[in-house]
Amino acid sequence: MRGVEVEPVLEAVERGFPASVERLVELLRIPSVGTDPAFAEETKRAATWLVDRLRAIGFDASLRPTPGMPMVVAHDRDAPADAPHLLYYAHYDVQPPDPLGEWESPPFEPVIVEGPHGPRLVARGAVDDKGQLMTWVEALAAWKAVHGRLPVRVSILIEGEEESASENLEPFLVAHAEELRADVCVISDTGMLGVDEPAITTMLRGIAYFELRLRGPGRDLHSGMFGGAVPNPIHVLCRVLAELHDAEGRIALPGFYDRVVELDPEIRARWQRIPFDEKGFLETAGLSRSVGEAGRTVLERLWSRPCCDVNGIWGGYTGEGSKTVIPARAAAKLSFRLVPDQDPEEVAEQLRAFLAARIPAHVAWELVAMGMGRPIRVPTGSPFLAAARRALARVFGKEPALIGCGGSIPVTASIKHRLGMDSLLLGFGLDDDRVHSPNEKFELACYRKGILSHAAFLAEAAGIRG
Ligand code: BES
Ligand code: MN
Ligand code: MN
Repeated sequence: MRGVEVEPVLEAVERGFPASVERLVELLRIPSVGTDPAFAEETKRAATWLVDRLRAIGFDASLRPTPGMPMVVAHDRDAPADAPHLLYYAHYDVQPPDPLGEWESPPFEPVIVEGPHGPRLVARGAVDDKGQLMTWVEALAAWKAVHGRLPVRVSILIEGEEESASENLEPFLVAHAEELRADVCVISDTGMLGVDEPAITTMLRGIAYFELRLRGPGRDLHSGMFGGAVPNPIHVLCRVLAELHDAEGRIALPGFYDRVVELDPEIRARWQRIPFDEKGFLETAGLSRSVGEAGRTVLERLWSRPCCDVNGIWGGYTGEGSKTVIPARAAAKLSFRLVPDQDPEEVAEQLRAFLAARIPAHVAWELVAMGMGRPIRVPTGSPFLAAARRALARVFGKEPALIGCGGSIPVTASIKHRLGMDSLLLGFGLDDDRVHSPNEKFELACYRKGILSHAAFLAEAAGIRG
């Protein structure tokens, strides 16, 4: 059929790849640290850059204000009315680059460095999520350049608050449900198993994130004058945090595992066949051994089991030298990763009850929920998943693995529950990409294959009818 010929598009992607790299570098130069108010203007500049780029390739694109960072929304309606309708989602915000001293080159001055898989692009946001979102932007551009129009209807939603839990996203989705509803939501914000090991993510953990604040004395006290006779909030905080896990490493909140669904034996068997290099995975993290629940492989623990981590802790004196003081306050940030069918709101209640039963009455405390996202499972029988499998198989020369993901993308649950749509998670990141860490990178080989995969997926998806 004319107009769905993919070969010339793939050739155009290859020819245009150096320019695709240039455009990604341009986007990476914008320090869109969404969580830091000092970077608000720069973050908005990333949104504007995307609107301009999408307009340049023929999309009806606009910037939509929210109480936080603006949404980028775009449409292309040139395809036949009975063609499938895809909604592409991504985020243009990036994590703060701290600790700055550990970067080998400045985080917002992208550099191309030679690595074992060829050249790689090093910059904050290289893989999460600017490099990955550009895989489909570039594929759409190549398709339009070659064929004049896309073979499917396309809508685009790119937010600027994913790294700070997407607070304004759900209200926006609800308010614009008619405009945004499509047949499936396509997301590139996850990983694969290796440069030549394609994967489709079918399980994503959810998240419940909190800050716990404790208050003991009314002010910092002399630890000699008062020590031994007054409560120390750091001690209380450490005790409750330590009690979150039992001796076997299981989470101790009553009821926490009640809704946890055991992994389907068929999926377990499939995951056991994945050639996962546990030693290499740990090495990329600077570790030599794993921890966690007994009787489960590392992949099972990461992808199908919940966990709880303290992400930060502070209180008292932490400066140079010594200061004999009993602090007035102590606090910690902690996150739970959740699996089907756990509910973040319910976990919040369980945590509240757990703390209420343990923190003594003379220590005041407050628990602030900072971000919630439900876990998600992608149905593996959909025609879109089958189309993605064929597209990846064509580009990589091998069948993609169906994998899980330990991270969270809160939008997937909102899109499912608010718009009734499933997501298709086609990720091109690697375990050693240093997501959220200093020297974040994206392999150019992954970028190239990502663009090719999205181009091939457009052709495959065009064949799907009602
Ligand atoms: N792209 C990541 C999710 C991810 C992480 C996928 C690792 C694959 C591997 C996403 O941008 C992210 O960081 N999500 C946050 C969500 C949180 C801020 C609500 C996460 O998982 O911590
Ligand atoms: Mn991301
Ligand atoms: Mn992230």
